[in-house]
Amino acid sequence: MGNCFGSHPATDPNPSSSTRASISTPGTSRDYSNGGGLSATTSSSAGRSRFSAAASDDTCVSGEILPTSNLKTYTFADLKNATKNFKSDMVLGVGGFGTVFKGWVDSKTLSPSKIGTGMIVAIKKLSPESTQGFAEWQSEINFLGRLSHPNLVKLFGYCWEDQELLLVYEFMQRGSLENHLFRRSVAIEPFSWDIRLKIAIGAARGLAFLHTSDKQVIYRDFKASNILLDGNYNAKISDFGLAKLGPSEGNSHVTTRVMGTYGYAAPEYVATGHLYVKSDVYGFGVVLLEILTGLRALDKNRPGGRHNLIDYAKPLLSQKRKLMSIMDARMEGQYSSKAALQTSQLTLRCLESEPKNRPSMKEVVEALEQIAAIRKPKESKSKSVVFSPSPLI
Ligand SMILES: Nc1ncnc2c1ncn2[C@@H]1O[C@H](COP(=O)(O)OP(=O)(O)OP(=O)(O)O)[C@@H](O)[C@H]1O
Ligand SMILES: [Mg+2]
Repeated sequence: MGNCFGSHPATDPNPSSSTRASISTPGTSRDYSNGGGLSATTSSSAGRSRFSAAASDDTCVSGEILPTSNLKTYTFADLKNATKNFKSDMVLGVGGFGTVFKGWVDSKTLSPSKIGTGMIVAIKKLSPESTQGFAEWQSEINFLGRLSHPNLVKLFGYCWEDQELLLVYEFMQRGSLENHLFRRSVAIEPFSWDIRLKIAIGAARGLAFLHTSDKQVIYRDFKASNILLDGNYNAKISDFGLAKLGPSEGNSHVTTRVMGTYGYAAPEYVATGHLYVKSDVYGFGVVLLEILTGLRALDKNRPGGRHNLIDYAKPLLSQKRKLMSIMDARMEGQYSSKAALQTSQLTLRCLESEPKNRPSMKEVVEALEQIAAIRKPKESKSKSVVFSPSPLI
């Protein structure tokens, strides 16, 4: 038997970390140098420390930073059993860290259960070939283990046994936004305008929570593959392997190695290694553009001059007629052109080259909520997707 967590990784004083410093192309993963999470900096009080935000911050929705992570530890044998020995028919997807399997646990105790009983979870297993590894796994535990919010995916537990590193998450029934936006398959129905907006609002609320929490968290890897969807299209942000604590008081940015995903990373960050809270807003703008157009941020299969979606589409966003030429045709025009134009104007603001000219994520949430209230002229109210109100703090 290995050391399946005698001590919590957050307390490990000397984690190994990768030294690669690069940006990956979408679909593959990238590097990180950040094993540190909230553990060293968040004060804990008796019980749970409620995430604090001003009373007027209700669009940032409730969330909390837990004083300790409260995660369950699993043995490798537990997770082997829960996944039929990591059988191929249990695979949910593959990413840069490794393979994600479907598994079963008891819904109350979260202990492994017989296949088919209890509830489904997603189990991410580090692949031996992965260029990501311990530091990313540790960062995930340190951040996601302590952050709780309806728009962040829940981490239930982990396993660390010899070389085996695994993470156990809540199961997100509809997989990633990336799969839905870009996979051309008859099995995947194109999203309607309302669902797209609902997803954008959910993801924006998740980022707004990170940015306004007591210890600002910069997510650093915002992209369509890291937005997961539950059965009701509620969006939840996953993968905190690259997350970083925001700048200390008086500083505008943190300086760090450049890591992330090409096409999504903010230009100031790629050029200088200066990472701002607003660098995440840029990434959000890229995803918003992907949601509008149904096109990937980077795609070498597009004709020359169109590989980079931002370069190609940005000049088309401010005029209604040009915008309509790049809106995702799979929506078959079933949206209000006023709502589309306002969303594209918001996208442009998020993509401003100067970080300080970009809106905060709180402003983005408010703007998107207002856009969601714009209906197509003839549309009856009963047809619209129900937006759950922002829970108050
Ligand atoms: N909690 C989950 N519930 C359901 N499916 C999941 C879950 N987490 C991941 N997946 C599936 O597994 C796939 C791989 O996820 P993973 O996070 O490992 O990689 P990625 O986000 O695609 O790439 P990257 O390594 O660059 O982040 C996802 O696209 C999704 O389809
Ligand atoms: Mg991911």
